[in-house]
Amino acid sequence: MSGLAQSFYVLRRLRPTVPAFDALKEESRLEGYWMLVRLADGWASGRNKFLKRGEALFGAWHGRDLAGVCGLNIDPYFEDRSQGRVRHLFVSAGHRRNGVGRMLVETVIDRARQYFAVLNTRAPKEAFPFYEGLGFQRVAGEEFVTHRMMLSGYGKGS
Ligand SMILES: CC(C)(COP(=O)(O)OP(=O)(O)OC[C@H]1O[C@@H](n2cnc3c(N)ncnc32)[C@H](O)[C@@H]1OP(=O)(O)O)[C@@H](O)C(=O)NCCC(=O)NCCS
Repeated sequence: MSGLAQSFYVLRRLRPTVPAFDALKEESRLEGYWMLVRLADGWASGRNKFLKRGEALFGAWHGRDLAGVCGLNIDPYFEDRSQGRVRHLFVSAGHRRNGVGRMLVETVIDRARQYFAVLNTRAPKEAFPFYEGLGFQRVAGEEFVTHRMMLSGYGKGS
């Protein structure tokens, strides 16, 4: 996507308590996706506030609209804390194919390089081309991971 289109979107750390998040959560639920409902529940219960080492939650803003969300967690499905996980990725239907998902996940990948050796995700089938286009490898035979990226920068930075 062009630099021009990208300049309309601004990425910031997100607290999922703002009204714009509620609107996006409702949209996702109506589309049949539950990742933002789980995100809101995890935040409200204190179970997942993206506060552990390396973790972060990002929002992509288009003016006052929240166009997309993506989180980075320590992968809760593995004991090993060197594995990160892309979670709760959702881009509003009206903002898709504008590079928002790419901006969000590339930001997560850049951050993850400082903290994790690998980055995992479990994607729905319709998102497989998106992750593979970003360089994730398809994983077969694992219940909780459909795609993985090995991160070469791990251990070299802060
Ligand atoms: C998957 C999703 C996050 C992609 O977000 P997006 O902002 O539309 O993605 P981008 O515009 O950054 O796409 C980057 C590249 O990924 C690929 N891609 C994205 N969506 C695709 C699709 N539906 N089919 C094929 N390729 C796709 C393309 O190569 C695209 O580049 P291009 O537009 O130059 O061709 C978004 O469609 C979404 O939120 N879907 C519903 C929820 C979901 O599936 N979340 C993932 C949970 S793990």
